[in-house]
Amino acid sequence: MSLQSEIQRRRTFAIISHPDAGKTTLTEKFLLYGGAIQVAGAVKSNKIKKSATSDFMDIERQRGISVATSVMTFEYEGIQVNLLDTPGHKDFAEDTYRTLTAVDSVILVIDCVKGVEAQTEKLMSVCRMRKTPVIIFINKMDRDGKDPFDLLDELEDKLDIKVRPLSWPINMGTYFKGVYSLYHKKLNLFRSGSQRVEDDVITIENISDKKLDEQVGERDAKQLRTDVEVIEGVYDSFDVNKYLSADVAPVFFGSAINNFGVQELLETFIHIAPIPQKRETDKRIIFPDENKFSGFVFKIHANIDPRHRDRIAFMRVCSGLFERNSFYHHVRLDKNLRFNNPYSFLASSKDVIDEAYPGDVIGLYDTGNFKIGDTLTEGEDILFRGIPSFSPEIFKELINLDPMKTKQLDKGIEQLTDEGVAQLFLNESGHKKVVGTVGELQFEVIQYRLENEYGAKCRFQQISMHRACWITIEDPKDPVQKKQLDEFLRMKGDYIYFDKDHNPVYMAETSWALNVAIQNNPAITFHTTSEFKTEVV
Ligand code: G4P
Repeated sequence: MSLQSEIQRRRTFAIISHPDAGKTTLTEKFLLYGGAIQVAGAVKSNKIKKSATSDFMDIERQRGISVATSVMTFEYEGIQVNLLDTPGHKDFAEDTYRTLTAVDSVILVIDCVKGVEAQTEKLMSVCRMRKTPVIIFINKMDRDGKDPFDLLDELEDKLDIKVRPLSWPINMGTYFKGVYSLYHKKLNLFRSGSQRVEDDVITIENISDKKLDEQVGERDAKQLRTDVEVIEGVYDSFDVNKYLSADVAPVFFGSAINNFGVQELLETFIHIAPIPQKRETDKRIIFPDENKFSGFVFKIHANIDPRHRDRIAFMRVCSGLFERNSFYHHVRLDKNLRFNNPYSFLASSKDVIDEAYPGDVIGLYDTGNFKIGDTLTEGEDILFRGIPSFSPEIFKELINLDPMKTKQLDKGIEQLTDEGVAQLFLNESGHKKVVGTVGELQFEVIQYRLENEYGAKCRFQQISMHRACWITIEDPKDPVQKKQLDEFLRMKGDYIYFDKDHNPVYMAETSWALNVAIQNNPAITFHTTSEFKTEVV
């Protein structure tokens, strides 16, 4: 098959949601349809229960499971679907943001009882920023939730995106009777999972058809007609191009646990979701159908087997054909690397692959060559953009409890921070190590992993820091700017740290101190992430 037709038949996406909205359940139903698993329950929920923050075994189990389920590839109606998993726990939200850089679209799951929740808003803001097309699935319609019209308003209001229902529910909770597909003009009658029958789907070309009354009763039929009239009046007709440009999000209703509305969602997804898209680099736009291979690493994961220190780097193929045993150019290291056993991922197993196409995610064995954001090409010096380097919010000092194991500790923390779970900052002398994360849970994970994988013992000491700001000047050759920077570094000595690439970072103790620093040093730019293109404080 040609490169072009391989691209055409791929859909790479992620399912995102606030924890407990039903992401795992929906994923599992998709895999059942795709034939990637045979029984329900095969996909374990990869979330860490909120109560289990101290249960290290759970954290470990989570790590193990999420490697296997990080990418799930299955075929449906001739389309290769690459579903990228995202962790549910909010302390791992950064991992999710990075995964979102590797997809072409997302399905957002909303719990109809809870509506739009905090995590949903954050995730959606990342999608908006990246202009990622979104399909919304309103789940748990078998429970008494919010009024569907109110839900649509809430989606538009809180997620700041126009919505367009493509299906409409007939009641909810105990009285839930089914969903009418506005797109396919079909009535999908609800029965709980195990009791589905063929006749549950009825084609109703014209909503005034008496068939509707026969199926759902006069009262509900009347209500549906009124609702549909309102929808057609209020919402513009569905325009797939507006979905693809991320201006409109189509909305579906269903119940994942009852496998209701799921197939319809999957089928619509297959038809409308974008194929692998072009991507921006620091030099030019890369198109998937270019002949030369390129890709970037968006996630690094420790090996499940603790006896092997090597890791798996997850790479999204952006253009051309990736081939096993070929040499590729690692742009940051300016080095050519060859991969003997790249992996592709099926639902719960890894298979060595010979080739991969744009949109695919491959797992590369890594002995320490990769960092998140690294680019591989056939020689061109380009770097893919927009892989967020997060802005840490919690800072703690890393205290070594076993001086005999200093080397192990240094190596361990270096490697763990390469995986993107946390960021490491060193003071000038290199003796003081500060670790910055977005969640408390990461400190427990690091402490546990340092001990179990590297044999190093440590503890974390609370320190009060408000923010890490990378500091730059526009023109390092300009003597005035250079003087201001040097002066600032000298004055703020105790608060100046260096990241792993030796970029200076100002650790502002309070927001007040930061504001004063900004005001007094107009030549210096303060950045909240190490990727300097993003927002300035
Ligand atoms: P998540 O990955 O988004 O965190 O959610 P997950 O699929 O694990 O679902 C969270 C809970 O919601 C689960 O119940 C799941 O069974 C339930 N659920 C999912 N879809 C539906 C639905 O359509 N209707 C109803 N009523 N419930 C649904 P749990 O009790 O937390 O876990 P479990 O013991 O059932 O695994």
